[in-house]
Amino acid sequence: MDWGLANRLNLIIRPETGRTVMLAVDHGYFQGPTTGLENPRATITPLLPYADTLMLTRGILRTSVDPSSGTPVVLRVSGGTSVLKELSNEGLATCMEEALRLNAVAVAHSIFVGGEGERESLLNLAKLVDEGQRYGMPVLAVTAVGREMARDARYLGLASRIAAELGANIVKTYYCDDFEKVVAGCPVPIVIAGGKKLAEYEAIKMAYNSIKHGAVGVDMGRNIFQCDAPVAMIRAVRAVVHEKKTAGQALALFEKLKNEGAK
Ligand code: 5RP
Repeated sequence: MDWGLANRLNLIIRPETGRTVMLAVDHGYFQGPTTGLENPRATITPLLPYADTLMLTRGILRTSVDPSSGTPVVLRVSGGTSVLKELSNEGLATCMEEALRLNAVAVAHSIFVGGEGERESLLNLAKLVDEGQRYGMPVLAVTAVGREMARDARYLGLASRIAAELGANIVKTYYCDDFEKVVAGCPVPIVIAGGKKLAEYEAIKMAYNSIKHGAVGVDMGRNIFQCDAPVAMIRAVRAVVHEKKTAGQALALFEKLKNEGAK
């Protein structure tokens, strides 16, 4: 593998554990000021020391993250839609040159398998992979789920495998029953999104189960930044991802940190 690409991947999936805790704060690119991200800088800054990478758009990176932050950036490059219209009609919203200029360690792109924009999103992913190969930039494919799509192993396995076939270096999908089948059918590392805010124990258990069934980590957003103690929550998630803690042990850590005042 190209040295630059391998180096960037190692900045995402930590070589010490073979795992990663990615923090996703890109929601505004189609949702606007998402709950918890109304003031991105205030939300992001305290979490940075605990995130292996930060996934976000160039606009929030430039305005809300200090360049002195050492946290590697995964740049969201697909976009062009809003919650008011058909979400699957995304296109490429940020070019590779910009990703290089912003010192990204990967670019993230959504695919909409089964959606109206399926073909366009898949061909754009393939184009991005070609460019990524040219510049040593890993591509993370997000298997975005349309309103009418079931989040089951059959569908997520299909979307994850297609992403890998088109050359994605990492796939981001959802945890589901029979998740090990999704992992078994996908020859590149998988990270999970957290989805809508759950009770803390449920979210921690989801992270634990996804690791147990073969994910290399999480790329979580709302279950961390919408929690009333986000720092305690990301540290609890790190405990299951990097430190082999059980969900119960991680919840105990969350409660302890929260009681000590960790925000
Ligand atoms: C949307 C994304 C988001 O970053 C991701 O799904 C958000 O994470 P979470 O679901 O944990 O809030 O990629 O397509």
